[in-house]
Order: sequence, then structure tokens, then C-alpha cells
Amino acid sequence: MDSPAGSREPGARTFEGAVAIVTGAGSGIGRSVALRLAAAGASVGLLGRSADRLAAVEKEVAGASGTACAVAADVRDLESLHQAVSEVEERFGPLTHAVNSAGTATGQTFLCEQDEDAWIRTVDTNLNGAFRFCRAVVPGMMRRRRGSIVLVSSASGKRGAPATSAYAASKWGVNGLVRSVAVETGPYGVRVNAVCPGLTDTDMLRNEEMLGGSFVASMRRYGGTPELTWEKYWRSAVRRTNLQRLVEPDEVAELAAFLLCDHARSITGEAMSVDGGAP
Ligand SMILES: NC(=O)c1ccc[n+]([C@@H]2O[C@H](COP(=O)([O-])OP(=O)(O)OC[C@H]3O[C@@H](n4cnc5c(N)ncnc54)[C@H](OP(=O)(O)O)[C@@H]3O)[C@@H](O)[C@H]2O)c1
Repeated sequence: MDSPAGSREPGARTFEGAVAIVTGAGSGIGRSVALRLAAAGASVGLLGRSADRLAAVEKEVAGASGTACAVAADVRDLESLHQAVSEVEERFGPLTHAVNSAGTATGQTFLCEQDEDAWIRTVDTNLNGAFRFCRAVVPGMMRRRRGSIVLVSSASGKRGAPATSAYAASKWGVNGLVRSVAVETGPYGVRVNAVCPGLTDTDMLRNEEMLGGSFVASMRRYGGTPELTWEKYWRSAVRRTNLQRLVEPDEVAELAAFLLCDHARSITGEAMSVDGGAP
């Protein structure tokens, strides 16, 4: 049993008594996951680097009568993750659920002009960060023979796209990590899955500086037209999906919550898409 209550009633407080951590909890998908778990009864450790944003989410949870605490952690620093897990466990008790949503997509270009620093930063945050996250939470869960983990991967972890090689390689790596760790932890009652969102309406998508700058410049040089903008690019990518609309962060959170809870007790090692139907 992953969730203590294990209720199957729709809308039930499925995570009552659960203790969760969520990285990247200050914004976007991580914030939605944290709010979703807290609303269903979990005590949630909100992990990330920006104290202000984490504090705002902590306040939001408290405003909805939930329980959460902000804890500084950087997925590029294993010790900070060990420390954060200890802090959350001291406060709320042993960890039962864990979600890694921290990620970056800056500095992506065609490979022929890919900056090495940006490649290393991307892989170190998205893939090595997912490893460090698992390294910090898996041993305790294995010892207690109970736990469920979700890593936020990407639709880019299932296919190729131009000017995305570092990001895609990091997310393909996350899906491989999930497959292998699930084999190791399954006999100890610990499940590990990934969610693979398509283009989702968050800062990562809306803030051209964060994702689009180098990407669009590279696309203009090698694959696109001089008129290409980041917004034109993502709008046309969204139009190519079956549902032809952006994914909402709440929809990713819903899938993550499902995979974490006892309803999904026979699902592990999967990388599930929530992408509006990829062509
Ligand atoms: N938006 C999309 O279209 C989309 C599509 C597929 C997959 N994803 C994935 O979804 C996840 C969440 O992204 P999002 O769309 O919600 O964008 P976001 O709002 O920019 O969230 C990214 C979060 O990661 C945190 N973060 C970045 N580096 C970190 C580090 N080294 N240590 C700890 N936290 C770190 C950031 O917080 P701090 O800066 O405060 O640390 C931020 O809260 C990412 O893994 C992303 O790759 C997004």
C-alpha cells in the first residue's frame, strides 16, 4: 500500500497521513503537484532554490488549510537534497511520496553550435538531478518497504526535435533511470514512474528568455525562416497535437497524483505521456 488511507472514492483525501516532497515546487508543474497533494491530505515539503516562490506556495497551501513547509534544495547538490529530506522527515515523519519536477531548458541550440556549458548544465540539472533526487529518497523508502516516486520527464524524452538534443537526451535518460530503478525497488514495495508532459503552460514555456532565446536564434539559422519567433514555434507545435491546445500544469499534477497513489499500485517503471496526443 502506497497511500495510508488507500481510499478509492473520487475526491477522497487519498493522501491523508502521507508525507511528500516536491522539487521545483515554487512554480509551474511542481507547484501544481504540491497543491494537489496537499489538498488531498499530504504534508508536503516544498523544495527549490527560490525562497520567495516557495514561501508563496507554502502560504497558498496554508490558505487552503493544508500542510507544507518550504525547504531550500538544489538538485545539482546531493548534500542539499539529503539535508532537505532530513528536515522534512523531522517535521512530518517518514517520506511516503516524492516528485522531482526541477528542470531547465535554457541554452538549447542545434548540435553544431551547442554550447558545452549549456549542455552540461541541462544534463546535470535534468538527468543527474533526477539521479541525486532518487539517491536521496530511495534508500529510506526501501528500508521502510514503502514509497512511490514520480519524476517529471518530458514528451522530448520519447522523440527527437531540432535544437533540443541536450534537453531530449536528459529526459530520455530520466525515462531510462525510471525503468532501471523500478526493477531494483519493486521487490521492496517502492514504485517509480515518470510523467512526460507535452508543451505545458508554465514559465518555462511563456518566458522566452528561459527557453526560446538561443533556441529560436538557432532555428532561424538552421531550420526555420527569419520571421520565426518562439511563440510562433510553440503555437504551431501545439496545433500538431491531436487536441491542439497547451497542457495545463494541473493536468500533469493529476497524472502524477494518480501514479503516486494506491490506485496505481500495479504500475511501476512507466513513462506516461500527458501531451494532448503526439502526432
Ligand atoms: N513547460 C513545459 O512545456 C514542459 C514540458 C515538458 C516537461 N517539462 C518539465 O516540467 C518540469 C517543471 O517545469 P515547468 O514547466 O513547471 O517550469 P518552471 O515553472 O520553470 O519550473 C522549473 C522549476 O525547477 C526549479 N529548478 C530549476 N533548477 C533547479 C535546481 N538546480 N534545483 C532545484 N530546483 C530547480 C525551479 O525553481 P528554482 O529556480 O526556484 O530552483 C522551478 O521551480 C521540468 O522538469 C521540465 O523539464 C515542462
